[in-house]
Amino acid sequence: PDSIEAARRLLSWYDRHRRDLPWRARPGETADPYRVWLSEIMLQQTTVPAVAPYYRSFTERWPTVRDLADAPLDDLLVAWAGLGYYARARNLHKCARVVADEHGGRFPGSEAALLELPGIGAYTAAAITAIAFDRKATVVDGNVERVIARIFAVEEPLPNAKPTLRRLAATLTPDFRPGDYAQAMMDLGATICTPRKPKCMLCPWADFCEARAAGIAESLPRKAAK
Ligand code: ADE
Repeated sequence: PDSIEAARRLLSWYDRHRRDLPWRARPGETADPYRVWLSEIMLQQTTVPAVAPYYRSFTERWPTVRDLADAPLDDLLVAWAGLGYYARARNLHKCARVVADEHGGRFPGSEAALLELPGIGAYTAAAITAIAFDRKATVVDGNVERVIARIFAVEEPLPNAKPTLRRLAATLTPDFRPGDYAQAMMDLGATICTPRKPKCMLCPWADFCEARAAGIAESLPRKAAK
């Protein structure tokens, strides 16, 4: 199918199967950029179940980015204990201060401006743009790379395949419902198009997945030998 039809199918699947996660806005509501940012930083290198209690305690204790900016760094580091990668917590505080002091306490709404903030890379900037501002952005993480490698049967190994996968992901990204589409891709990768034993029988994209047709879904994406 064309990319519009593919996006419609994915969104229809998402409407029926979306995971209820603490940082997700309810259908029809817009997400708070601060909460989206906080959850995406926490979710880097940490699983959804491990993040959930930390996300809840942070947002209860520091409900706005200004509250987080005003907190002593040590309080933040203690609250972060257990999540690992403490550089993330230090950058979290730095970024909160920049947003509070230089952006009037509001996250900027463009991918380019978000990229200027401490600790915000390509993935996080795209995720905030799509999920919090509902603007078109192509969100590519490991889950999305796997889905795209399989849909288009990209056999070139990672990491060399990254630019190709990003380009293909961009061709599939629709102009409508950007936030839902980004989260639908994450859910598809996390629950259906899993690294091992993908549940192709339940996949909204099964009938045009090239890797499935070729019987090689589970072996993609390939990884270069170390
Ligand atoms: N992993 C990273 N970001 C996520 C999100 N917004 N929802 C679910 N899983 C994620």
